[in-house]
Amino acid sequence: MRTQVGIVGAGPAGLMLSHLLHLSGIESIIIEDRSREYCENRIRAGLMEHWVAQMLIETGVGERLKREAMVHDGIFLAFNNEAHKLDFAKLIDKHVYIYDQKEVVTDLIAHRLKQGGQIRFEVEGTSVHDFAGNGGKPTIRFKHQGKAQEIECDFIAGCDGFHGVSRPSLPVGSWQGYDRVYPFGWLGILSESPPPEKELIYAYHERGFALFSMRGAELSRLYLQVAPDEDIEQWSDDRVWDELTTRLQGVRPLKRGKVLQKGITPMRSYVTEPMQYGRLFLAGDSAHIVPPTGAKGMNLAMADVRVLARAFEAFFRKHDTAGLETYSATALRRVWKGQRFSWWMTQMLHRVHGGEYAGFDTKRQLAELDYVAGSEAASISLAENYAGLPID
Ligand code: DHB
Repeated sequence: MRTQVGIVGAGPAGLMLSHLLHLSGIESIIIEDRSREYCENRIRAGLMEHWVAQMLIETGVGERLKREAMVHDGIFLAFNNEAHKLDFAKLIDKHVYIYDQKEVVTDLIAHRLKQGGQIRFEVEGTSVHDFAGNGGKPTIRFKHQGKAQEIECDFIAGCDGFHGVSRPSLPVGSWQGYDRVYPFGWLGILSESPPPEKELIYAYHERGFALFSMRGAELSRLYLQVAPDEDIEQWSDDRVWDELTTRLQGVRPLKRGKVLQKGITPMRSYVTEPMQYGRLFLAGDSAHIVPPTGAKGMNLAMADVRVLARAFEAFFRKHDTAGLETYSATALRRVWKGQRFSWWMTQMLHRVHGGEYAGFDTKRQLAELDYVAGSEAASISLAENYAGLPID
């Protein structure tokens, strides 16, 4: 097979890149090792920055989003048994959208296939070759339905997530990883119950952080700070509900319901620099991951591919390589701001249990929450990062 851009991975980054390239008349083929059903059903963070929703709508993949997404004016910060609203609409005239990543993936897959886009699901043994730019043709090799296959392309986009093959294929010494592991995990549930508020509540509590999010009027997505090595078997549904109730005490009443899904996510920050070598370009989680607080993962992936699609467009239209040369630097400027914000939200809201400075840190966190909730300048700073920094 032969195409202009070979894309590894059918997550939000790979699918959106393929979609944007198609709009610019550029061909791509996506390969993905999971099944279509798996990609469409994997529950992920559900918070979309204002401009991402606009981009989906403006590029023709926002019909269901417009009908089904919940549009939020802001968030609540809860501490000392009280909820404080940060009204983004008033502060910065922006909204955020609640629409699970799996819905974005579902919409993009359907749209790409309808437009004749090529996606090969359930491939095996993927590897990437000859992308150094020294005369060889970038090639993706894999097995599909038992047969060895090859895609020859002008460029490879590695959109295959944190555990994909693309990042480890960068030559040793050509890149560096910046890593930070947090001593926390999130236990998340999806439940048939009404959320305690119309908008999200980020709750700081002496027993640990809790987040009260949603997927619908009768569908809650709730998270608890736990230890990173927490055993999920120790958390019966009743224990999860009791803990959520305790951490929301005095703020709002919490209705219980049937738990539909339960899982634990570790928390880590990671950045690959640069995000490119020769004709292999990384985008999304293959290059960087964030801790979940603030839900920047998919939003950063969308920002990467927006920059990358433009760079490919300039190359194929005008043979202009400037965008490709600056892709990594341009993407990383936003990535690091997303990293900083995710780290900042994480350190402000999670309880550190024990250790020499736990007492000091607790008082400092409460002062920081009080400051953010009480100062217009600090509220605006949170709001503009949360709802999405400006794009050019
Ligand atoms: C959700 C997840 C987050 O990490 C967050 O900060 C907000 C919302 C969610 O899954 O709904």
